Amino acid sequence: MGSQFAAATLLTGLLAFAMSANCNTEGDILYAQRMAWQQPIDALESWDPTLENPCLWEDLGNAGISGPLVPELGDLEKLQYLMLFKNGLNGSIPTTLGNLNNLVSLDLQDNLLSGTIPGSLGAISTLKNMRLHGNNLTGAIPSSLGNLTNLVDLELQNNALSGSIPASLGNIKTLRLLYVILLYYFPHNAHISWQNIF
Ligand SMILES: *[C@@H]1O[C@H](CO)[C@@H](O)[C@H](O)[C@H]1NC(C)=O
Ligand SMILES: *[C@@H]1O[C@H](CO)[C@@H](O)[C@H](O)[C@H]1NC(C)=O
Ligand SMILES: *[C@@H]1O[C@H](CO)[C@@H](O)[C@H](O)[C@H]1NC(C)=O
Repeated sequence: MGSQFAAATLLTGLLAFAMSANCNTEGDILYAQRMAWQQPIDALESWDPTLENPCLWEDLGNAGISGPLVPELGDLEKLQYLMLFKNGLNGSIPTTLGNLNNLVSLDLQDNLLSGTIPGSLGAISTLKNMRLHGNNLTGAIPSSLGNLTNLVDLELQNNALSGSIPASLGNIKTLRLLYVILLYYFPHNAHISWQNIF
């Protein structure tokens, strides 16, 4: 009963937000994502339709969410912070997230994500933080990440990545935290000049 009430509240909230903000697309996408997770509704009640910018979506870290990220998230054009760390997200990181051209922080650390890091993420020129550590990501670090010239914090440790560190990362002058250098995860020599970074 409690959860039925919460579901009704959320639905009403989403509808109100879609009308007041005139952003039906965003409302539809968030709803699709909520349905893909199915639970828990409590964590999603913080989506407040009265916010000046209801499409600012934060604070879903450590919220007990599990399930996949839907590809439609890539259409949330105004999204600045995708903070879903310490949940039970599984499946792969949708390549469509590379379309989020206002994103500042991608915080998906400490989940159960698998598959490769999409090269498309290198197109998010606004990105300052990319935290994907503590998942089960495989494959190589895409060299396209060297295009993220505003990146300050890149954390990829504690995955199952392989290959060497792309030299292109040396292009990022702003980088302060680069935990990928932990050679545990990179058995091959990295061909990179660290002087370019620090
Ligand atoms: C994600 O987890 C759910 C629930 O444990 C499971 O049913 C589903 O198959 C998982 N999906 C993937 C891609 O691992
Ligand atoms: C990580 O992925 C590998 C390869 O897909 C799989 O064999 C392994 O069971 C996964 N580990 C965890 C902790 O999910
Ligand atoms: C991003 O980087 C890749 C590989 O380093 C490069 O081939 C590509 O042209 C770059 N894309 C843009 C939009 O700069």
